[in-house]
Amino acid sequence: MTSVTPEGIEAILFDADEISKAVARLAGAIARDYATDPSVLLVGVLKGALFFTADLARALPPSLDPRIDFLAVTSYGNASRSSGEVRLLKDMSESIEGKHVLIVEDIVDNGLTLSYLQDLLGRRHPASLRSCVLLDKPYRRRVDAKVDYTGLVCPDTFVVGYGLDYQEKYRNLPYLAKLEPWVFAGEVE
Ligand code: IMP
Repeated sequence: MTSVTPEGIEAILFDADEISKAVARLAGAIARDYATDPSVLLVGVLKGALFFTADLARALPPSLDPRIDFLAVTSYGNASRSSGEVRLLKDMSESIEGKHVLIVEDIVDNGLTLSYLQDLLGRRHPASLRSCVLLDKPYRRRVDAKVDYTGLVCPDTFVVGYGLDYQEKYRNLPYLAKLEPWVFAGEVE
């Protein structure tokens, strides 16, 4: 079967194999750290961390008995730059009081989204609160959100695929890719 690269994709930054190796590495580290605190609750951040949360949960040893919940936030709207204002679109379905909570996020860029989530969930009295991020873009940090587990350090560019979108497109790609500059041409400064 030949695979066709969709229009607008300039280059693959991390292929499916590199992503799955990063997920396996993260799962190994998480399994070691939570060995004495089983029943970790993975809180996936929609929509970007949809596939990452699913793959991470399946890579964890069954003995860890991970639970899964999701919440949804937005800060990007339809643009490739953050609006700087994070909004909660959908809350979790269960209480986290007294639980070991691991926020599972697709990417940390300026840090506002993760910091907002750490504040929000921290106020709900979890037994512990850590963060696991697939991609780190450390170039434009505005707040120092603490990341406990980092998968891959990403080049300073807007990435799509493996859950990450541009205007709701490209989420389904099995790899992480860079977009061609013309894709952003309609954006206003
Ligand atoms: P931050 O608040 O700037 O740290 O960005 C975190 C959120 O912005 C992520 O959850 C993504 O939804 C989105 N985001 C940041 N960089 C990218 C990117 O390169 N591609 C797609 N989404 C991104």
